[in-house]
Amino acid sequence: EKGGFRHFMLKEIFEQPRAVQDTMAGRLLEEEGNVYLEDLGLTDAEMAGFSRICIVACGTSWHAGLVGKFLLEELCRISVEVDIASEFRYRNPVVSSGTLLLAISQSGETADTLAAVREAHGKGAKAIAICNVVDSSIAREADGVVYTHAGLEIGVASTKAFVTQLVAISLFALRFGRATGAISRERGIELTSSLLHLPAFIEEALQLDTAVESIARRYHNSSDFLYLGRGYSYPIALEGALKLKEISYIHAEGYPAGEMKHGPIALIDENMPVVMLVLRDRHYEKVVSNMEEVIARGGRVIALCSAGDSETAQKAEAVLELPSCAEIVAPIILSIPLQLLAYHVSVLKGNDVDQPRNLAKSVTVE
Ligand code: M6R
Repeated sequence: EKGGFRHFMLKEIFEQPRAVQDTMAGRLLEEEGNVYLEDLGLTDAEMAGFSRICIVACGTSWHAGLVGKFLLEELCRISVEVDIASEFRYRNPVVSSGTLLLAISQSGETADTLAAVREAHGKGAKAIAICNVVDSSIAREADGVVYTHAGLEIGVASTKAFVTQLVAISLFALRFGRATGAISRERGIELTSSLLHLPAFIEEALQLDTAVESIARRYHNSSDFLYLGRGYSYPIALEGALKLKEISYIHAEGYPAGEMKHGPIALIDENMPVVMLVLRDRHYEKVVSNMEEVIARGGRVIALCSAGDSETAQKAEAVLELPSCAEIVAPIILSIPLQLLAYHVSVLKGNDVDQPRNLAKSVTVE
């Protein structure tokens, strides 16, 4: 049942090219530069009427929400807030009929996320769910749903569910932006074509497996890790750190690279591996200068950079080169080596990869 893989997590990591294809299947309208979402339950006029989107989720799904804020604000020019569901539900949040709630949950059963949907409904807002499990409680309570179609995820550490959430959010952003007019047909065509290339890029990123394993061998005895990124790479840094914590039990922190100076820099010494997400994008120069600050303090930089970035490759202690790709798919490509890193470190430590201690696949109680 593990299809020749040693663990479900590894099988699920390698299933991702197919999983994202399933998320997109029948939904991309390439010629119109648009997306068809069968159960969205919102008209174009309703979408154009929202002044704000609130995303609520827990754990890894919350990280997907943070990428969603970046994409929705960038592509749709609508203001987006992202909340941890357990905070949102107890805060008396400002929500009205002009607010669209977007609840993200793999299982569709997370107690706090379900309560957030009820809270929003109570205040007159509409709620859309991004779920993997069909007919789950959150999917049923929401006014519309975008299913991720990742297939059953058995590993407690979420991998393919996360990546397909990112795809589902991209599809939603594209549909939303086309409905409100924020995304032109031409831009829509560009975006659909970037999404269509995604499975091939994931295949390419998966080929880093052996290189990631040797990095894991080199660093798995460290007691702390720092993950740094900017823009859409910041939530991916958070997710990389969460994955490592969950299955390797190593203390890891994700930070926006620009915040390093405001505290975490004090932790950096010659024992601290720092995973830097340094793709050639609009944040490149800034992240490179953060990387130099880490190196100046003796930190051991593991860089995830764009293919051919010899400058970064020379500076870092270890380097993983990723295919150059469009911004809309970059967070997904960055996620792959981070999943593999957490996986290999966990295996080297002899941990139970698929069933990490103290964690449940679905958190149905508070
Ligand atoms: O089923 P959900 O997406 O609502 O679950 C949310 C979190 O419990 C979940 O993402 C958790 O953080 C995972 N263990 C991540 O690997």
